[in-house]
Amino acid sequence: MAKRVFNFNPGPAVLPLEVLEIIKNDIPDFKGTGMSIFEISHRSADYEEINNAAISLVRELAGLDESYHVLFVGGGASLQFFAVPLNFLNAGQTAAYVDTGSWANKAIKEAKLVGNVHVAASTKEENYRRIPKLSEIKYPADVAYLHITSNNTIYGSQYQDIPDTGSIPLICDMSSDIFSRRRDFKKFSFIYAGAQKNLGPAGATMLIIKDDLLQKCKPNLPTMLNYQTHAKEKSLYNTPPVFAVYTVKLVLEWIKKQGGLDAVEKVNRAKKDCIYNLMDKYPDYFKGTVDKDSRSWMNITLRLPNEDLEKKILSETMAAGFIGLKGHRSVGGIRVSAYNAMTLDGMQKLAEFMENFKKTN
Ligand SMILES: Cc1ncc(COP(=O)(O)O)c(C=O)c1O
Repeated sequence: MAKRVFNFNPGPAVLPLEVLEIIKNDIPDFKGTGMSIFEISHRSADYEEINNAAISLVRELAGLDESYHVLFVGGGASLQFFAVPLNFLNAGQTAAYVDTGSWANKAIKEAKLVGNVHVAASTKEENYRRIPKLSEIKYPADVAYLHITSNNTIYGSQYQDIPDTGSIPLICDMSSDIFSRRRDFKKFSFIYAGAQKNLGPAGATMLIIKDDLLQKCKPNLPTMLNYQTHAKEKSLYNTPPVFAVYTVKLVLEWIKKQGGLDAVEKVNRAKKDCIYNLMDKYPDYFKGTVDKDSRSWMNITLRLPNEDLEKKILSETMAAGFIGLKGHRSVGGIRVSAYNAMTLDGMQKLAEFMENFKKTN
C-alpha cells in the first residue's frame, strides 16, 4: 500500500484516496483509448463526456437547474477578483464588498481598479476574529452586487448564514468551503472557487453563473475575460485544464457516492467538533483566534500559550505524520485544514495527539 500521511495542507490539499486510485488506473490508458487523460484532445467525445458529467454533477449536488451555467476556467480564484467587477460593475456604479480577511481584501483591491467600491462591513479592526452579523452588512440599494467570501482560509472564519440580498446579485468566493455543507445555492447569482481545496487539483476554477446575471455582462470585454465567451462555448473556447476538470468530475462523483452534501456536511460537522471540543475543554491552552459563532469548519485556527510550544507541537505532529498544520504567517500558531477529503479518523487521531501533547507539555 502507498504511504499516505494525514494531510492538513490548506491548499492544494488532500484528495480522496479512492479518486487517486481511479486516476492511477486510468493512466496510461483512459477507457481503452490507448492514451492517458493528459494526452486526449479537449475536442474529443471522451472529454465532452467528462465536461458534461461534471456540469450535471455540480447542478445536481447544488440543487440548481439549467438557468445556472457551470464553467471551468484557468487563472485561479485570484483572476476572478478582477474578472467579476470587469464583467458586472458598470461605469458610475458601485459594488459592495464585505471585508472578512486577506482574500476579501484582494478582491476589493482588484474591484477598485475597475470602479467604485463600498465596504458593506469589515471586521479588520477586530483582527478578523469574526464574520459580521447579517444586520451589520449595509450597502446602498443600487449597488451592482454584493461580494462575500464564504470561508476565510487564513483567519479561520466562515459564514454560518448567508445574507439575503433580494434583487441585488450576491457574488461569492467559495474557494475554501465549496460543497462542504448544504447551502441554499439559489441565493447566489455567481459563485467562484479554485478547485485545489475541496474539488480537485490546482488548475481549474469553477464558476456557477445565473443566466440573468450572465446576460448583464458588459460589452466589449477582452475575449478570455468575458464570461459570455466561456458560457457560450461550455468552457471550450480555448484549451481547458483537462486533467483538473477530469479530477473534479471524479471528486464530485465521490461526493455523490457519500450521499451528497447533506452526508458530507454531517461528517464535516463531526470532524470540526473533534478540534473545537478540545479547544473548548482547554481554552487557556488551545486558544481559538475566532469567535465561536464565526468558526470555520474548514480551517481551524488556534494559538498555544507561547511560540516555543507551537514550534514543538508542529515538529512533533509532523514527525507523527500530521502535516501542513502551520498557521498562515499573518495569524501564526496552528491551522487545521479539514477539507472534504480529510477523514474523521484523521481528525480524531489529531485531536488525541493534541490532548496528549497538552498533558505532557
Ligand atoms: C478564499 C480564497 N480565495 C481565493 C484564493 C486564491 O486562489 P488561487 O490561488 O486559485 O488564485 C484562495 C487561496 O487559498 C482562497 O483561500
